[in-house]
Amino acid sequence: MRLEEEIKRRRTFGIISHPDAGKTTLTEKLLLFGGAIQEAGAVKSNKIKKGATSDFMEIERQRGISVATSVLAFNYQNKKINILDTPGHKDFAEDTFRTLTAVDSVIVVIDVAKGVEEQTEKLVEVCRMRNIPMIVFINKLDREGKDAFDLLDEVEQKLNLKVTPLSFPIGMGYDFKGIYNVWEKNINLFSGDSKKNIEETIAFDDVTNPDLDKIIGEKSAKDLRENLELVYEVYPDFNREEYLKGDLQPVFFGSALNNFGVRELLDCFVDIAPTPLPKKAEERLVDPNEKEFSGFVFKIHANMDPKHRDRLAFIKIVSGTFERNTPYLHVRNNKKLKFSSPNAFFAEKKEIVDISYAGDIVGLHDTGNFKIGDTLTQGEALNFKGVPSFSPEHFRYINNADPMKAKQLDKGISQLMDEGVAQLFTLEMNNRKIIGTVGALQYEVIQYRLEHEYGAKCTYENLPVHKACWVEPKDANSEEFKEFKRVKQKFLAKDKQGQLVFLADSSFSIQMTQQKYPNVILHFVSEYK
Ligand code: G4P
Repeated sequence: MRLEEEIKRRRTFGIISHPDAGKTTLTEKLLLFGGAIQEAGAVKSNKIKKGATSDFMEIERQRGISVATSVLAFNYQNKKINILDTPGHKDFAEDTFRTLTAVDSVIVVIDVAKGVEEQTEKLVEVCRMRNIPMIVFINKLDREGKDAFDLLDEVEQKLNLKVTPLSFPIGMGYDFKGIYNVWEKNINLFSGDSKKNIEETIAFDDVTNPDLDKIIGEKSAKDLRENLELVYEVYPDFNREEYLKGDLQPVFFGSALNNFGVRELLDCFVDIAPTPLPKKAEERLVDPNEKEFSGFVFKIHANMDPKHRDRLAFIKIVSGTFERNTPYLHVRNNKKLKFSSPNAFFAEKKEIVDISYAGDIVGLHDTGNFKIGDTLTQGEALNFKGVPSFSPEHFRYINNADPMKAKQLDKGISQLMDEGVAQLFTLEMNNRKIIGTVGALQYEVIQYRLEHEYGAKCTYENLPVHKACWVEPKDANSEEFKEFKRVKQKFLAKDKQGQLVFLADSSFSIQMTQQKYPNVILHFVSEYK
């Protein structure tokens, strides 16, 4: 019974946004409400400062912070909230995609003036593909921004969502007076000029009540009534089932910096957000309430100190409880492993814990046993699905610049790839190694880390590849597939799992290949089965 209750208390989610929309500020305000931190400014931003592309100290600083902010946990209304950190920088988008495999829901933060931005589009698309329940928070209402209805339209169209506002702004920018909370049926007044983050909440279930004019003024009251009429007319009623299926997204408005609209968001979140969800393994669906432990690695963080080459592997617990000093099966290696000091996370501190429950994240010290996507269980041979790789955007040959250190280079590359820093492809033709990344920044990170952590030196050579396509022949013995392999020989490589990949040099070439070899299917994610 205790197991089920503990699991029911958990809410594990991620906050996603384009950089600068206010993710860090919102996270911090949520932690303040949870009593996990005492003052604003305590949560460090994990973003890479502008212009820091070649500043390695900055990258290291960011890595340091991202250990501390990987999981931020706190208790609120007897719920255990786990916020999983997602890097906003586009070069680290792959990290964010992987973290999204470990969340049960997300909050999407959008800047009221900038609207839907590029990075938000990409991340929301991944959430939509996986039907992850989403809540939208439109931030910075204390500033002039877009009209609320225009924004809702933009969110629907650009992000392909079906929204329903659960709060609605009264004015904006200079005229920002507050928010009508459709969910709780009350008004929150904003006292912006005091900057003391005071908010006054007035219960108000009927906006036709003439008292409204006295509280927010005649004009604002008239506007609000008209706006709400439109809201009720145009948008569907909130329906939790639809939200949980990923078919309906509630929207909140507020100002994270001013702590405005954040409590409403959090209160609604703990009410509606999903408890830990069942997860598909290749073998079967695993329910969180099963007694036996299972979990998977979604992130690996290398030690900041090159003298201690251990790493921290982050495990999302899918079912049961994870207990200290208990042998668990590392399914890929078919080996039992015991962990004497598993870390749990609380606010920005990590501490050793004896027991963690489904929904929680534990950090395990690892000396090179784990790869992203690995499954750990109490004994059953399960393999969790859903940590796919997407095609990288950049491709370069990696060359050894110090012949004496070939072994170190190989080891370094292999370990960095296990960590998920980038993807490795080996050309079929000549075994040359190609590194594929989401952003150019990763090449510098890899070069720097190879040198500082493994004592190896590398150089790169550009390669004009447009996309990596994972190849699945309908019939591996067909003449068509044999011809495809012969004709495309120069462009074929193996990924780290040994899967065949076609490195296409243009979208035209992908199209032509698809036409010419209709029975050779090209996939744009690694996990297609
Ligand atoms: P991010 O993690 O999504 O990248 O965004 P972050 O929270 O760091 O916020 C980006 C900038 O937007 C910060 O200003 C932050 O203070 C500001 N901001 C966040 N929420 C609000 C809001 O509700 N209203 C207004 N007006 N500003 C907001 P900065 O100047 O870039 O950084 P800082 O020097 O204030 O830390």
